[in-house]
Amino acid sequence: MSSTWGRNIKITIFGESHGTCVGGVVDGLPPGMVIPVELIEFELRRRKPGGNLATARKEDDSYEIISGIYQGMTTGAPLAVVFRNKDIRSGDYEEMRSKPRPSHADYVSMVKYNGFGDHRGGGRFSGRLTAFLVFAGALAKSILSERGGIEVGSHLLKVGQVEDQPFETEISPQELKLLGGMEMPFLKDGINEKALSYLEKIKKSGDSVGAIVETAAIGVPAGIGEPFFDSFESVLSGLLYSIPGVKGVDFGKGFGFAEMKGSEANDSFFMKGKSVATITNNSGGINGGITNGMPIVFKTAFRPTPSIGKEQETIDMDEMESAKLSVSGRHDPCIAVRALPVVEAALALALLDLQMEGEALNG
Ligand SMILES: Cc1cc2nc3c(=O)[nH]c(=O)nc-3n(C[C@H](O)[C@H](O)[C@H](O)COP(=O)(O)O)c2cc1C
Repeated sequence: MSSTWGRNIKITIFGESHGTCVGGVVDGLPPGMVIPVELIEFELRRRKPGGNLATARKEDDSYEIISGIYQGMTTGAPLAVVFRNKDIRSGDYEEMRSKPRPSHADYVSMVKYNGFGDHRGGGRFSGRLTAFLVFAGALAKSILSERGGIEVGSHLLKVGQVEDQPFETEISPQELKLLGGMEMPFLKDGINEKALSYLEKIKKSGDSVGAIVETAAIGVPAGIGEPFFDSFESVLSGLLYSIPGVKGVDFGKGFGFAEMKGSEANDSFFMKGKSVATITNNSGGINGGITNGMPIVFKTAFRPTPSIGKEQETIDMDEMESAKLSVSGRHDPCIAVRALPVVEAALALALLDLQMEGEALNG
């Protein structure tokens, strides 16, 4: 049932893709915090639909804070925000009321909610709901950056056949900032054009493609997270798997550890000036569920967008017989391109919540 997440910074998400609005409530923000309007708008622009390689749905993602602020600052009361839905073409979804899109949530929604769920535009399962996550993530990013110098960023490690290089052990704030400003963020020079023409080809053929996003947080102090049951990995993964389309998460070398020996995998310690550091960062900045002071690095795998123009097999639930479906309407050829700020929001929220948990425990 839960649409609420968090223990110290609590978020509640609501809305449907083609209902009145999407939005949410953020509870636990410090009073007197200036709303970081520029950062919120920057992050929302990164997620916004309507670019060349995104769904053609034209939402300006403008928002209205309806509670919890006074004179541009937080009051300490729950902060509620709404994003009104404007560019709605629910007719595009009429066929999906009875014919579920393969691998979308139409079928499970029909079963779980006895047919009462709002199917229009994917209803509650639409990527549109992630606008609120990005909003809440921008608040978390702003707090983390201002009080602790923690910065978060990500790039596309893999888009179908196009592959980028992974983050190095050392990651600079400038590098993360640069990535945040790119429409298709890659670390390697010269693959942007290749990825763009690849995605255009995919889109033209009525198909979609999956991707892997690699994300990092730098400036994270050692000691955030708990061994049981709020390990840093557990808390962050819980949020990441709530992002529609996420089908895999791995930290540091992750599944790659299966091919490594301990002598290759272990991150040896050394003194970096007066601070403790490790030569490699195969653990992705986490040991025993607790941050170790190295950058947090993890990968998030996104499935190919389920809605595709190519004809697919499905069922007609009114007639209870096999049927064909090719999805019309407006869809992203690759979800991940718009989802980077959503993944970063999840990381910022997990970091802030666990950092506040530690502060509460230590008085
Ligand atoms: C930013 C974003 C945009 C998305 N856009 C689409 C879309 O245009 N068409 C679509 O079928 N799915 C889209 N999705 C993915 C679906 O919402 C998701 O696949 C669906 O809810 C099923 O959930 P699952 O893939 O996690 O199992 C998007 C997801 C995100 C995060």
